[in-house]
Amino acid sequence: MRTTIYRARVLDVPSDPFTGGQLRSDEDVALTVTDGTITGRGSLAEARVGAPEAEVLDLRAGILLPGFVDTHVHYPQVRAIGGLGMPLLDWLDECALPEEEHMADAGYAGQVADELLAGLAQAGTTTALVFGAHQASAMDVFFAAAEGSGLRITAGLVVGDRLLKDTLHTTPDAALSEAGRLIETWHGRGKLRYAVTPRFSLSATDELLAACAQTFTSREDLYFTSHVNENTAEVEAVAELFPHAAHYLDTYDRHGLLGPRSVLAHNVHPVPAELARMGETGVSVAHCPSSNASLGSGLFPMRAHLDAGVHVALGSDVGGGTGFSLIKEGLQAYFAQQARPDGVPLAPEHLLHLATVAGAHALGLDQVGHLSEGMAFDAVWFRPQEGSTAEAVLRSAASAGDALAKIFALGTPADVAQVWVAGEAPRMRRRPPSCSADPG
Ligand code: GUN
Ligand code: ZN
Repeated sequence: MRTTIYRARVLDVPSDPFTGGQLRSDEDVALTVTDGTITGRGSLAEARVGAPEAEVLDLRAGILLPGFVDTHVHYPQVRAIGGLGMPLLDWLDECALPEEEHMADAGYAGQVADELLAGLAQAGTTTALVFGAHQASAMDVFFAAAEGSGLRITAGLVVGDRLLKDTLHTTPDAALSEAGRLIETWHGRGKLRYAVTPRFSLSATDELLAACAQTFTSREDLYFTSHVNENTAEVEAVAELFPHAAHYLDTYDRHGLLGPRSVLAHNVHPVPAELARMGETGVSVAHCPSSNASLGSGLFPMRAHLDAGVHVALGSDVGGGTGFSLIKEGLQAYFAQQARPDGVPLAPEHLLHLATVAGAHALGLDQVGHLSEGMAFDAVWFRPQEGSTAEAVLRSAASAGDALAKIFALGTPADVAQVWVAGEAPRMRRRPPSCSADPG
């Protein structure tokens, strides 16, 4: 049994601020962590009585937050970041898909896997739903790297059988057998889980979606993820390809792909019937505000989602998105609502909730998202560099809410000094985020 006491200023949002939950702020609290789980939360004196032998790490020079949860990030698109100036379908053709073809080379795929996992950890992301590659070989490489990293990763082989590039297309039979083998090999191993992942209905025939449904229902503990209603040209193309579907969401629904273990990215242009059905089925939406702005997809209708009882979390959508930081996604989510006439006024606690507990809920991970007793110690030590603007501004914060607002306004991966997943630092083959706890 290994016990460590973390003494820190802690900010988290244990209950949903969209339904009355508040920011929890403790200026000086001791978290006792035993074998990766928080076994006590109270004063340092209490913690010392409970674990007299335990090492005490003093983190009061920064702020301790729960680890971030990214519900939509593309593994093969790390090097596609920065393709600015195009709408979705042009961006896919010109930036994303050519890059995704390179993943057929296992050496290349391994390098990109390491870049992705390091990018997540450096940004303070401890859990992610990762949109995979089209090549099963690249997924083996990725799952092996993800397992080694210690991050909590849910991911799957991406499948499409039309309108992409011939080199990326599969068949329903191949999709079924390759997913079966990957699930057998990787699902449930360490912190890894499998998500059935058709790219989007535009690139999937009904036969392929039926194969995905067969995989999804083959066990009770798999996830399903895809894209929906991101861009108006995409929505129109899907309506033409599926003339019998009631709407875009229905192309998934008619195959039984919707439920509490389903996460759909974007949903910028839903019709009311889709929102109602999402609320009814318990689907989560991965809101990807940087990507929505960068690809000109539109301003996310958060109010309509909340009114329909649709669960919303955050995604970076790298490489349509512009980086791994969920701090930045929180700020962009705030901007998008500010820019809509019916925008939801998002307070700092909403942003932290969206970046943590909301994602954990979308991924069915009850043990992460906040730092209460009984939870896993998945945490981010936010500590801006001395002399930086963030440090100066944070020092002047008038309240905990103000400090959190300042973190979202100014925070970057450079301010993430340390990350833990179940009490362990992620193990990276690339530069890890590390900085020894400093009692000063
Ligand atoms: N829709 C289908 N594929 C993609 C993708 O790679 N990125 C985004 N943003 N939307 C998609
Ligand atoms: Zn995406």
